[in-house]
Amino acid sequence: MPRPTPTDIPVIAIDGPSGAGKGTVAVAVADSLGWHLLDSGALYRAVALVARREGLDLRDGPALANLISDLDLAFSAHGVMVAGVDETLAIRHDAVGGAASTIAAIPEVRTALLATQRRFREPPGLVADGRDMGTVVFPDAVAKIFLTASVESRAQRRLLQLHHMYRLNETLPGGTVSRRSQPVVPEFDALLLELEARDARDRERTVSPLMPAPDAHTVDTTAMTIDEVVSTVMAHVAKHVP
Ligand code: DC
Repeated sequence: MPRPTPTDIPVIAIDGPSGAGKGTVAVAVADSLGWHLLDSGALYRAVALVARREGLDLRDGPALANLISDLDLAFSAHGVMVAGVDETLAIRHDAVGGAASTIAAIPEVRTALLATQRRFREPPGLVADGRDMGTVVFPDAVAKIFLTASVESRAQRRLLQLHHMYRLNETLPGGTVSRRSQPVVPEFDALLLELEARDARDRERTVSPLMPAPDAHTVDTTAMTIDEVVSTVMAHVAKHVP
């Protein structure tokens, strides 16, 4: 049997702003189909984490593109490894999220990460979560979902998620990561402001702004439980994936 060309391999694109439920939904859809998963936000976050540590100017496109070409990044079932170190929790710091959104507006960064993201397209299929999966990275995706929710409900969910991650790390002997890289859980109001600022940056940038693809199916998750979101998305996916 000839090996399928990448464009024969189906992709489901799940886009939307932070906290709309993309990550949870993408994992559930990938699990139920037995497909691969791409958390593209984790790539932007890993680049931002290293750039901050190395003291790079977050507006310096060529320096950031160089950093990406040398970056030793690996995804495992448990999280993200950068240069052999588990940085799963470190990339979830809000400061890293803010820096990720800043570098994500730089054309050289987006171009440098394009090939990295497309390499995740492996048989039998890929579920990709991000901001421009359906518009730029995989415009030929078989199903495109755009998840939205009010900024208040997204901030609330993000707060719960941060508390959960923090507690999880506390319960493990010595934590999964060093205390130094544990996320500091912010106050609700600070989180809300940070989310609004991040949304504005992601929507208003000139390259690959956050927006639904013309053929995307939009789901407003504000009043839905995560189980309801997953079943709504699965019902849509079932129409496109036999
Ligand atoms: O999904 P996230 O919050 O982990 O993403 C972090 C930042 O990365 C987000 O503010 C915008 C950027 N991002 C992007 O521009 N394009 C993507 N496909 C994924 C994330």
